[in-house]
Amino acid sequence: MSKDSVIVIGANSAIAQAFIQEQRVRSPNSQLITVSQSAMSQLDNNHTHFECDYSEAQILLLAESIKSHIRFAKSISIFNGQLHNEQFGPEKRLEDFNEHYLTWLLKTNTITPMLWLKGIGQHLTHQSTCVITFLSARVASIDDNVLGGWYSYRASKAALNMAVKTASIELARRAKRCKCVLFHPGTTDSPLSKPFQNNVPEGKLFSPSFVAQQLSNLIESREHNGLVDYIDWQGNSINW
Ligand SMILES: NC(=O)c1ccc[n+]([C@@H]2O[C@H](COP(=O)([O-])OP(=O)(O)OC[C@H]3O[C@@H](n4cnc5c(N)ncnc54)[C@H](OP(=O)(O)O)[C@@H]3O)[C@@H](O)[C@H]2O)c1
Repeated sequence: MSKDSVIVIGANSAIAQAFIQEQRVRSPNSQLITVSQSAMSQLDNNHTHFECDYSEAQILLLAESIKSHIRFAKSISIFNGQLHNEQFGPEKRLEDFNEHYLTWLLKTNTITPMLWLKGIGQHLTHQSTCVITFLSARVASIDDNVLGGWYSYRASKAALNMAVKTASIELARRAKRCKCVLFHPGTTDSPLSKPFQNNVPEGKLFSPSFVAQQLSNLIESREHNGLVDYIDWQGNSINW
């Protein structure tokens, strides 16, 4: 059993891949557990990968089988999130709003991370000292929404924020030294942002490795105070 496991879920994300590399440099002796819907080569003897179809049954089963790692993890990071597919992309106007698009995004952006938190939460105790990070987005901020558009992505990430905020209140009672973080990476070069990179101002499109370093620094510096932080890549708080 490892006392400082690093658990990465949605490990095939561009940002997650860079985060994994960063963690291997910073903590080569930590047990690394990765989960993805696809296969991944073993990086070293301290790495175990699991494939998962993100059904509730598989998530709970997998959480049970890695429970000793969950209990003593130093970080659990959930990267799952989608924005577009061949059929749908962010809405520009109300007429674009579509039941199937929102349903699809809610599954990946809200329900899947929350099912992981359900599975993980069962194995955390007051002895656990981990930072649980969820990849959120600034566009989930209700206060910050001045541009409009992007109804479904905004709503699915705002729902994630509310659900994690709610869970953090419960976790403070059963695992008081665990910390939830809702993290906005900034616009980062990845398949998710690819179709929307043209309008990004010069210097504002981040590399996954830069974001991975920022996230790693922020995780290391978090105070385990039972509160949830909604922060950007600089560590600045975002209004809810
Ligand atoms: N890139 C940006 O500019 C940006 C900005 C704000 C927020 N974010 C957030 O950052 C996170 C990582 O995104 P990325 O930019 O690295 O994009 P990406 O490379 O396209 O990663 C996509 C992520 O979604 C997961 N995923 C794909 N299909 C799924 C499904 N059917 N069910 C559940 N999960 C599924 C993947 O997990 P597998 O490993 O299982 O494939 C992977 O973790 C997302 O939550 C995104 O919303 C990104």
